[in-house]
Amino acid sequence: MIGLGVMGRNLLLNMADHGFSVIGFDKDSQKTGSLEAAATAGTVVKGVGSLESMVQQLQVPRKVMMLVPAGKPVDDVIESLLPLVEKGDVIIDGGNSHYTDTLRRVKYLEEKGVHFMGMGVSGGEHGARTGPSIMPGGNERAYQHVKPLLEAIAAKVNGEPCTAYMGKDAAGHYVKMVHNGIEYAIMQLISEIYDILHKGAGLNNDELHQVFKQWNEGELQSYLVEITRDIFLQKDDITGNRLVDVILDKAGSKGTGKWTSQDAMELPVAVPTIDIAVAMRTISGYKAERVEAAKIYANTVKPFSGEKQAIINQAGEALYTAIILCYAQGLAMLFQASRELKMDIPLQDVVKAWRGGCIIRSTLLKDFYTAYSNNPQLANILLDGPLAAIVQQKLPGLRSVIVTAVQQQVPVGGLMSALAYFDAYSTERMSTNLIQAQRDYFGAHTYQRIDKEGSFHTEWGA
Ligand code: 6PG
Repeated sequence: MIGLGVMGRNLLLNMADHGFSVIGFDKDSQKTGSLEAAATAGTVVKGVGSLESMVQQLQVPRKVMMLVPAGKPVDDVIESLLPLVEKGDVIIDGGNSHYTDTLRRVKYLEEKGVHFMGMGVSGGEHGARTGPSIMPGGNERAYQHVKPLLEAIAAKVNGEPCTAYMGKDAAGHYVKMVHNGIEYAIMQLISEIYDILHKGAGLNNDELHQVFKQWNEGELQSYLVEITRDIFLQKDDITGNRLVDVILDKAGSKGTGKWTSQDAMELPVAVPTIDIAVAMRTISGYKAERVEAAKIYANTVKPFSGEKQAIINQAGEALYTAIILCYAQGLAMLFQASRELKMDIPLQDVVKAWRGGCIIRSTLLKDFYTAYSNNPQLANILLDGPLAAIVQQKLPGLRSVIVTAVQQQVPVGGLMSALAYFDAYSTERMSTNLIQAQRDYFGAHTYQRIDKEGSFHTEWGA
């Protein structure tokens, strides 16, 4: 393992815990020095002071993984490794690299006979140590060399490892990118529901904790709902109050959500809830302007007058439906990208790998798994019969919550975008006939007709 930051170190120790002999290297000698002391007694873990020494001690074919920041550091590590490795060795990038970089690296190294694999790892620092979700892609023969290791260290659901081969070339990093896009979208939806219940319905942190606790015991069971439940109880060491209330409302991001949106537009495929999640993090950054605008418009949430429990129930249904619609967008993107980029991504295995260990793990994944088991070529999970029945049953809650939120001035762009996606996707005849007419009017862009084959142009207004 090259790079012994929190993720690299924990993943390496996880490997050792499963009986694999491991060696770690970091250019920061302190990190290398403290590695062995952190290992579980009886495991084989070595920290070495140079790449040369590390590579020399590996069995052939060598399996070298790096967990370093995305971008130039990955290329630098590759260049330092190249004189040391041989044909047939496997180099794995386990960071959040952009898939186009991975594609370039796969080709570059394949020319030299070295296998390069892009591998998504999800689950944060705790997951890395105890069982992450792992999304490897690239050369399938190279994958076979690391398959037993990855299956051993991955999270397990019903005894099955939360990892599988994700497809050719950069498929592993592509799947991880979309995973993160869905992660952004679900986080946005949860934060909107929090706004509705907190500012709108007046629930305090204890009540919010109870609501999320109850939700997490039912159909909404998921990692993100679970941690949200706990967040409401966390005390602030400085004020003694709840920590969530003193956290500044400016969201950070490392870019993977944005990449998902950008690539969706390139394909093209519609992922509006991911787009809006990125946009809302961006707007959150304009704090000073928002403060000014809030004064001009006297914009505050108007308290709800309705019965609290009714709003809570509707919010639960709205969140559940909107989350399904987020997965629908992300998975449809993977379906399309797999075809366009010829990655052969097995969607059934993707949702299987996401069932445990990762940030977007949720009880819903088993329904998606069933859907893809019945039809591996499903273009969109909304076309699956049993899932369609669930969406139809829950949709009224989503519509009602949006209507209420809009009237009470709660910004719910994520929920609205999910509903708009559904309403457009399930519409036989959209209003885009008018757009075609306008395009032809001002630009002679031509249009097709519903009653005849071919392209047509009209001298409009003539
Ligand atoms: C995971 C996460 C992780 C990601 C963080 C931060 O699956 O463990 O997706 O890889 O880096 O969630 O992402 P942002 O800083 O962009 O929110």
